Amino acid sequence: MKASNQKLGTAMLPNHLGIIMDGNGRWAKKRGLPRPAGHTAGANTFRTIARYCSRIGIPYLTVYAFSTENWKRPQDEVTALMRLFKQYMEEALRDFTDENIRTRFIGDTSAFAPNLQDLIRRTEESSKDKTGMVLNIAMNYGGRAELANAMRQLAREVAAGSLVPEDINEALIEKRLYTAGQPDPDLIIRPSGENRTSNFLLWQSAYSEYVSMDILWPDFTTKDLDRALMEFAQRNRRFGGI
Ligand code: FPP
Repeated sequence: MKASNQKLGTAMLPNHLGIIMDGNGRWAKKRGLPRPAGHTAGANTFRTIARYCSRIGIPYLTVYAFSTENWKRPQDEVTALMRLFKQYMEEALRDFTDENIRTRFIGDTSAFAPNLQDLIRRTEESSKDKTGMVLNIAMNYGGRAELANAMRQLAREVAAGSLVPEDINEALIEKRLYTAGQPDPDLIIRPSGENRTSNFLLWQSAYSEYVSMDILWPDFTTKDLDRALMEFAQRNRRFGGI
C-alpha cells in the first residue's frame, strides 16, 4: 500500500497531522542501549518524517517532542533531550535555508535555558516567511497547561474590563491557544502501540481521528506514515452528525 501524493490526492491528506513520537525508550532498551540513544534515533526519524510530510503536501504538522510532565525524567535523559533540541535547531538555522518549512514552537518555552530560548526564537524568526508546511514542535507542552494559560488570559481581560464573561465562547478560547489560527488536527498518529492522548492537543483534538500503530518511533518509516494516511483516507468522519 503506497499513499504518496500520486495514490492519495492531496484532498485526502490531513490538513493538520499530529504525531506523538513514542517508544524511544523501549527501542533503546530492546537493544541494551541507554534511553538517550533511543531519543537520538527518534530525532533522526523526526527529521525524515517532517521532510516527507512537507514533500507530499501536508499543510500542518505538529510533533510532541517534550511534555510538561517530561521534566520528571532522570536528569541525564532530560539533558540528552535538550542537547538534541539544540542540535536540531542549530542544524535548521545552518542547513534548512532552502526548505520551505515554517517552524514554530508550542508550549511554555520560557522554562528552557536562555541559550535554547534564543535558538527557538531564531529558528522561528528565520523561517517565518516560508510559505510551505507549518511545523509545530511541542516543547514543554501540555494540553491542560495550554488551556489554563488561555483561561488566565481571558480572566485578565475580564479584570481589565475589555471582555465580559457572557462573551466568552469557543472562538475566543481558540484564539488564545498556542495553535491560534491553525486548523484542528484531522489525524493524530501514535506509534508504540499505546492508546492514550497523553495531554496532547486536548482542545484541538475534539474530532481528530486517531491511528495507533504497533511500531516504536525510531523504527517508524515513510511507509508506516503512508499506511496511517491510507487508513485516515478511508475513515468516515461525521463530526457529531450522522
Ligand atoms: C517519548 O518516548 C518520546 C519523548 C519523550 C521524546 C521525543 C523526542 C524526540 C523524538 C526527539 C525529537 C527531537 C527534535 C529535534 C524535535 P519515550 O521515551 O517515552 O518512550 P518509551 O515509552 O518507550 O519509554
